[in-house]
Amino acid sequence: MSEESLVLSTIEGPIAILTLNRPQALNALSPALIDDLIRHLEACDADDSIRVIIITGAGRAFAAGADIKAMANATPIDMLTSGMIARWARIAAVRKPVIAAVNGYALGGGCELAMMCDIIIASENAQFGQPEINLGIIPGAGGTQRLTRALGPYRAMELILTGATISAQEALTHGLVCRVCPPESLLDEARRIAQTIAAKSPLAVQLAKEAVRMAAETTVREGLAIELRNFYLLFASADQKEGMQAFIEKRAPNFSGR
Ligand code: CAA
Repeated sequence: MSEESLVLSTIEGPIAILTLNRPQALNALSPALIDDLIRHLEACDADDSIRVIIITGAGRAFAAGADIKAMANATPIDMLTSGMIARWARIAAVRKPVIAAVNGYALGGGCELAMMCDIIIASENAQFGQPEINLGIIPGAGGTQRLTRALGPYRAMELILTGATISAQEALTHGLVCRVCPPESLLDEARRIAQTIAAKSPLAVQLAKEAVRMAAETTVREGLAIELRNFYLLFASADQKEGMQAFIEKRAPNFSGR
């Protein structure tokens, strides 16, 4: 398989659909696959015509984790110098909204990848978990922090210490996912959410994403300061003038992204 095909990219107007494409390895996140994913994500982020990105998996998994076979013989220095896991931070740094459409297993790094996205929807057969403990390691791409914020400390601790998984339905109950749908309608549901977001002002969407992210990454005081800064900033945009004028004139707004 060529490196190019590890992530398939489909552009549908303002929506980019990125499909992890190592189904024979349950989309295990090899360094080459991650590099390809980052390349696609950063290209989408730089392309003004793309407003929303969807990540999904080919076959029966979203992703069954970092590639165990690629790490099995690594030394700590190999892991450090290769940046094998550290460079995943570039996925979480994408400025545009990213929707994870979780179509099956989201385990270990696969669960962490989903949690780096902004919205997670899941098919009924999806499973989430951090089973690294079964391999004699712990999550290394955010699982201990993001799963704990999503599920609360006690359920997250249980999952991370036992390696157990949870169903899509339980993930919904905890707010880790926002919607569960039959496998055949998962992508259409992701498209529907993406289209709704794509019709908004991309500036407002980007600054809203940044502010909401702060709720998990900083103190409430700092988060409120960033929210207020972004709120003020949007009054410098043509989109704010257009959005409010359209409301007053009782018509649909036409956002330009300026
Ligand atoms: N890395 C490399 N290969 C993997 C993989 C992974 N994470 N997960 C699955 N595969 C491969 C299997 O080795 C197998 O390949 P072969 O056909 O060549 O043997 C193929 O995918 C299909 O997998 P299974 O035969 O195991 O499928 P199954 O239906 O019996 O089991 C499963 C499915 C329960 C998800 C099982 O594959 C599994 O437990 N996978 C590993 C899950 C895991 O431990 N993830 C954490 C990885 S470490 C990590 O992610 C660190 C981090 O925080 C960044």
